[in-house]
Amino acid sequence: MQRVQTIPFFDYPYHYASRGEEFMEAIRSALQRGAFIMQQDLFDFEKGLSDLLGIKHVIGVADGTMALIMSLRAAGVGAGDEVIVPSHTFVASAASIHHVGATPVLVECGADHLMDPASARAAVTAKTKAIMPVQLNGRVCDMDAIVAIADEFSLKIVEDSCQAVGARFRGHAAGSFGVAGTASFFPAKTLGCFGDGGAVFTNHDDVAETVRVLRDHGRAKSGKVEMWGYNSRLDNIQAAILNVKLKYYVEDIDKRRALARIYQDLLGDLDTLVLPPAPDSDARHFDIFQNYEIEADRRDELQAHLSKHGIGTIRQWGGHMVHQFEKLGFASTLPFTDRVSERYLLLPMHAGLKDEQVAVICKSIREFYTGA
Ligand SMILES: Cc1ncc(COP(=O)(O)O)c(C=O)c1O
Repeated sequence: MQRVQTIPFFDYPYHYASRGEEFMEAIRSALQRGAFIMQQDLFDFEKGLSDLLGIKHVIGVADGTMALIMSLRAAGVGAGDEVIVPSHTFVASAASIHHVGATPVLVECGADHLMDPASARAAVTAKTKAIMPVQLNGRVCDMDAIVAIADEFSLKIVEDSCQAVGARFRGHAAGSFGVAGTASFFPAKTLGCFGDGGAVFTNHDDVAETVRVLRDHGRAKSGKVEMWGYNSRLDNIQAAILNVKLKYYVEDIDKRRALARIYQDLLGDLDTLVLPPAPDSDARHFDIFQNYEIEADRRDELQAHLSKHGIGTIRQWGGHMVHQFEKLGFASTLPFTDRVSERYLLLPMHAGLKDEQVAVICKSIREFYTGA
């Protein structure tokens, strides 16, 4: 018999139930207007998110993976090129590089689990065309260091900001640092829709124009096909749902940051854990806590203990970093990332999680390590 979790890792039904009437009204309105593809709700959403982030162009596309593929194409990445990307990421980051005909070169993450600049710099070759920092878990990499590497070797930056919509570094939004950045609106994301969805972010007019053409079969406004494109538009109904979500987004992020503070307060003294940087620990970073990823001694036993007490946790990417998937054929040696893969664990973190639930989770973790 399957155990009923009292604190699931993620509460999917909550995200509809929390504002059910508003969502139904938005969906009904789009249906009644017959507004399905490339309609006003999509354009309103693109404008609303662009205003919120302070990024000039937001282009709604089918999902985050397609956002990466089209961003790479707009950056001119193609056959024969290498792109540097951390191994601690969703396979989609590396897959997008593969699918434009280029080669992903996997590098280490650092102590905060984001791309390690020294490892990235050491991976540059004559073939390197671009660098793809992954703004993992809702935090932006040290972009001072990444931009310096890109400048030194004349590399393009394409950000995988799928987990960091609204996160900032020195006041600049994730997705705004290079040629383009990306969003995923997968349901469990901070700005999740009710299916698949994504966006490309860019401050460059020419890149925006290319992505708008690419997402619509390569067709320009004139209707003429200008390049090989894709059918990769964000559904108008998903955009209508996202317009509702967007109204509460700042509030939802505040909630996540408040939950992270509670985790920090209740677990910060345990030397058996490494917690993510606390929300206000570094003035350069504004983190949105897409995930709360810890490192834990005796990780597997801790996960089993929490599960026994009805608390859901997961290991991102099913517990495997990209270079560890043998069938993808990487020969990378990444000892730090290997060590993280043996220790990392995501604790529950979402806008519907209650403070009391975080207290229960922390109590259970303390019991595991201290017996008290
Ligand atoms: C870091 C990262 N990159 C890319 C993606 C791909 O996004 P999507 O699932 O919308 O294609 C995800 C989504 O899980 C992600 O977490």
